[in-house]
Amino acid sequence: MERIICVLIGYAFGLLQTGYIYGKLHHIDIRKLGSGNAGTTNALRTLGWKAGLVTFLGDCFKCVAAVVVATLLYRESHTEMLPLLAMYAGAGAVLGHNYPFYLGFKGGKGIAATAGLIISTVNIWMVLICLLVFIGVVAVTRYVSVGSLLVVAIYLAEVVIYGQMGGFAVAPEYLWEMYAIAAFLMVSAFIKHRQNIKRLLNGTENKLSVGKRNHK
Ligand code: G3P
Repeated sequence: MERIICVLIGYAFGLLQTGYIYGKLHHIDIRKLGSGNAGTTNALRTLGWKAGLVTFLGDCFKCVAAVVVATLLYRESHTEMLPLLAMYAGAGAVLGHNYPFYLGFKGGKGIAATAGLIISTVNIWMVLICLLVFIGVVAVTRYVSVGSLLVVAIYLAEVVIYGQMGGFAVAPEYLWEMYAIAAFLMVSAFIKHRQNIKRLLNGTENKLSVGKRNHK
């Protein structure tokens, strides 16, 4: 039951669609511009750097907030499974972001929210690896989607390594469940990026751009 409650808490936080709300405040539906995605990259591309920054921070920290709330709620009653419950809350936030019911289940791709989960779960070196790989890959290729997909794959590897190292203060029987959640997040990110993958394969993927453009 506590797992479901954590997913629901996360989902509720995930519903706060920063890019969509920012756009609406400027009388724009971000989902009708650029790639049609309600996330950081498309906010950056279509509404400018300030929108990109606000969208990233909002989407990242709503996931951190979901993890904090779940942790506070269960810190005494479920100590032995707290990191697992934090993962459930974070996964719920990614789901709420990707599939907001009030927007017809058409949200973002969950990468900024996953960044919030990365910050909340693994150690600082692992966070830095994700950050450096992302920045390096995007700087070289100018494809945010490639950086995003690499980061979710690295995060899965990090969760497994950190778990095997004894980094999570969790009873051993919960570790595989944590790995499964990280794997689920990776698969769902790839599914959400299927159009990006198609464009990458046929050489038409959008490169990183900052401005007020309107390309598909
Ligand atoms: O985080 C989303 C990014 O990987 C791709 O965004 O707008 O180019 O589909 P977009």
